[in-house]
Amino acid sequence: MRIAILISGRGSNMTKLIDSCKENIPSSTIELVFSNSSKAIGLEYAKNESISIEVIDHKKFKTRENFDEALHRKLKEYEIDFICNAGFMRILSKEFVKKWFNKQINIHPSILPAFKGLDIHKRVIDSNVQVSGCTVHLVRAGVDEGPIVGQLSTYIDSTYDEKKLANKVLELEHILYPTCLKLFSEELIKVEGDIIKYSSEALIELQKIQNNT
Ligand code: GRF
Repeated sequence: MRIAILISGRGSNMTKLIDSCKENIPSSTIELVFSNSSKAIGLEYAKNESISIEVIDHKKFKTRENFDEALHRKLKEYEIDFICNAGFMRILSKEFVKKWFNKQINIHPSILPAFKGLDIHKRVIDSNVQVSGCTVHLVRAGVDEGPIVGQLSTYIDSTYDEKKLANKVLELEHILYPTCLKLFSEELIKVEGDIIKYSSEALIELQKIQNNT
């Protein structure tokens, strides 16, 4: 599977995807790291790993659709099969989402469908819920919408503030995202429309990471 990772900033999830593809997902290669900002810190890591990087500034386009079309063309140029959004701070148009239907996943730092959107950890702490975590989901047209592929959770005790929660959830993201990518790469899950069908190996992998975190 030829994969593109879309980033806008730090790229810590991107580095985990790159490393795990090299180390334990032989069926996939990261062919492209794409960003809408030349300032994205993650680009440097990708470059050092000799991965192609492409930057297209969304501000140069009149409409969302025009930018998404340029992104789509780039992905086609690199013969990409599958997209991983990793901190890509753009809402994608309906047309783009349709073109990559069930071939695009995203990671979000909450237990979806709770706490969609931004400023998540503050909202979680303020709401006094006892559990938070992260979610990998297939991308649909609504923000942070789409069938859930995998989730990891953590208890929040009284020692947690926003920063501690963000660090803990990021740790979980770095475990969950490569695992979910592996499930797609090795065809351990199949998607029919909005329904994800898990093989027993997939369920074992997901249970294993839940038990170890
Ligand atoms: C992560 O928390 C991810 O869940 C969210 O944006 C953040 C990106 O972090 N979508 P990084 O760029 O991967 O370090």
